[in-house]
Amino acid sequence: MIQSIGFIGGGNIAEAIIGGLKKADTHFQIRVSNRSNLERLQNLVDTYAISASNLDDIVENSRVIIIAVKPKDVLGVVKQLKNYKLSDKLIISVAAGVALKVFYKHLPDVAVIRAMPNTSTAVLHSMTGLVRGDNVTDEQVKMAEEIFSATGHIMWIPEEKMNALISISGSGPAYFYLFAESLIKAGVHLGLSEAEAEVLVLETLVGAGKMIAESDKSPGRLREEVTSPNGTTYAALNVFTDDQLALTVLKATQACAQRAEDLEGENSD
Ligand SMILES: NC(=O)c1ccc[n+]([C@@H]2O[C@H](COP(=O)([O-])OP(=O)(O)OC[C@H]3O[C@@H](n4cnc5c(N)ncnc54)[C@H](OP(=O)(O)O)[C@@H]3O)[C@@H](O)[C@H]2O)c1
Repeated sequence: MIQSIGFIGGGNIAEAIIGGLKKADTHFQIRVSNRSNLERLQNLVDTYAISASNLDDIVENSRVIIIAVKPKDVLGVVKQLKNYKLSDKLIISVAAGVALKVFYKHLPDVAVIRAMPNTSTAVLHSMTGLVRGDNVTDEQVKMAEEIFSATGHIMWIPEEKMNALISISGSGPAYFYLFAESLIKAGVHLGLSEAEAEVLVLETLVGAGKMIAESDKSPGRLREEVTSPNGTTYAALNVFTDDQLALTVLKATQACAQRAEDLEGENSD
């Protein structure tokens, strides 16, 4: 049982995780600190009944410390953490593009796990990738699982697969949001009102997601089953194929993984 979690950084992903943990009715004591945005911190306190905190308090009173700052700010936080005794702590970094070796260099004996959730933690449907650092005990593995299983699914991976995972599930929600936006615009173009198009797209997206999740058929099989030769869906899918949707998706995910790798270079000191 963990009991206490401290977030260094109270931005979007911290809020998504905290919102999920509260929604899942977990009973962790949660502390959060920000660099300077006290209004945002107060908002988190009011919304989720957690405590606003600072680094001293977080380190002293949290068994698990989650680093949820932008990649470029991680090193600064790690250097601050050097001043504390962390031997009984688990550090979880959710930052993209900051490798474990950065933590090993500055905090050599500390237990660190890299985690890559997505913002669907807020609705308990995150897909979180986890990488186990060298000093992490089995008990600490269970702690990380306790947190991220409460907000969705988890997958343990070796660190060399982290950037691929970021390009699929970490950034993935945004791809589906973009597709939904494009479909709404197309609906309006075809004569629907924006409100009508929005309902049609959102319900279709949720329904398709549930079909993929709940049926034992692959997405490809489900697609085939709704595509009669020379029918209406067939006409639409032909355009996606002719315009090389699969290639565009491949290029987009490659760009994402490359950006994560570049960030590792920028944040490797
Ligand atoms: N957003 C996502 O979908 C997502 C998914 C998975 C992982 N991530 C990772 O999560 C991390 C944060 O992303 P985000 O979107 O949540 O960013 P964000 O909304 O900009 O939040 C970052 C927060 O960190 C705080 N901060 C910066 N330096 C600090 C310090 N030294 N001490 C305490 N707090 C500090 C900032 O506080 P101030 O505002 O006061 O400066 C801000 O609240 C990134 O590394 C990203 O790779 C994000």
